[in-house]
Amino acid sequence: MYKNLRELFKENEGKGAIGAFNLHCFEMLPAMIEAAEENNVPIIIQTSLGTAEYIGFETLIAAVKSLAERSNINVCLHMDHCKDIDAIKRAIDCGYSSVMYDGSSLPLEENIKNTREVVEYAKERNVSVEGEVGSIGGAEEGVVVSQNDAAYTKVEDALKFVEATGIDALAVAIGTTHGQYKSKAKLNFELMNELRNSLNNVGLVLHGGTGVSDEDMKRCARDGMKKINVGTELNKSYIEEVNKTFPTATPLTSLRKLLGPANERMKEIIIEKSSLFKIN
Ligand code: 13P
Repeated sequence: MYKNLRELFKENEGKGAIGAFNLHCFEMLPAMIEAAEENNVPIIIQTSLGTAEYIGFETLIAAVKSLAERSNINVCLHMDHCKDIDAIKRAIDCGYSSVMYDGSSLPLEENIKNTREVVEYAKERNVSVEGEVGSIGGAEEGVVVSQNDAAYTKVEDALKFVEATGIDALAVAIGTTHGQYKSKAKLNFELMNELRNSLNNVGLVLHGGTGVSDEDMKRCARDGMKKINVGTELNKSYIEEVNKTFPTATPLTSLRKLLGPANERMKEIIIEKSSLFKIN
């Protein structure tokens, strides 16, 4: 079934975290849903605005809905890290079931004001909203450059933000970094526990899943996170596989044969990660 994030959180209560995997091209989509089906877990397919524009909003949404309706698991289509409110409204109007407004680089009050606008628009249309407080940041060449304490989510800011906006999910900065694939992050579990204990009405979200060890993933899913994002690891593995198959191709080789191994590898990763996120 095609669901929003709020519905997924409710149905997954007590079962750990839900995996949110970044889709980069259309070809990846069926394999992602098949992986979740094999593991019998819900899945969040998330895209950047760039991917939505590349595939086409209507085409992407129609395909996700069609696959979801024919599936025995729940599927949510989520717009990841969008800073453009008009684009978010377009995603909602076209049929995304969930969106993220990322105002984390703005002063808190402005972040609250913009996120509220998105929440008001989304709620009327049964779409869930993720917001962000603190700064998760990116990595250079896959390695985190510096771990900056000042960027951690402050509990009092998070509390104020959640109360003032009414969001469904909150991305928090506890030491992870996007695109960190050469090393593992050092997570601040004390902060995660404090955030979990202070924020009851919102699902906490861990970004930068590629840089998190299996052991830490399990701990996050068990002790507080409701959504865990993994992107770079899928993209990186996909590239590794097509780099093996494409050099062997002739003009008569069907493209599907060249992409098959990449889809299989991606499925294996999603199955593996989803298993770490399950607690029951
Ligand atoms: P990684 O690409 O580091 O796995 O992070 C994904 C993510 O958090 C998307 O928002």
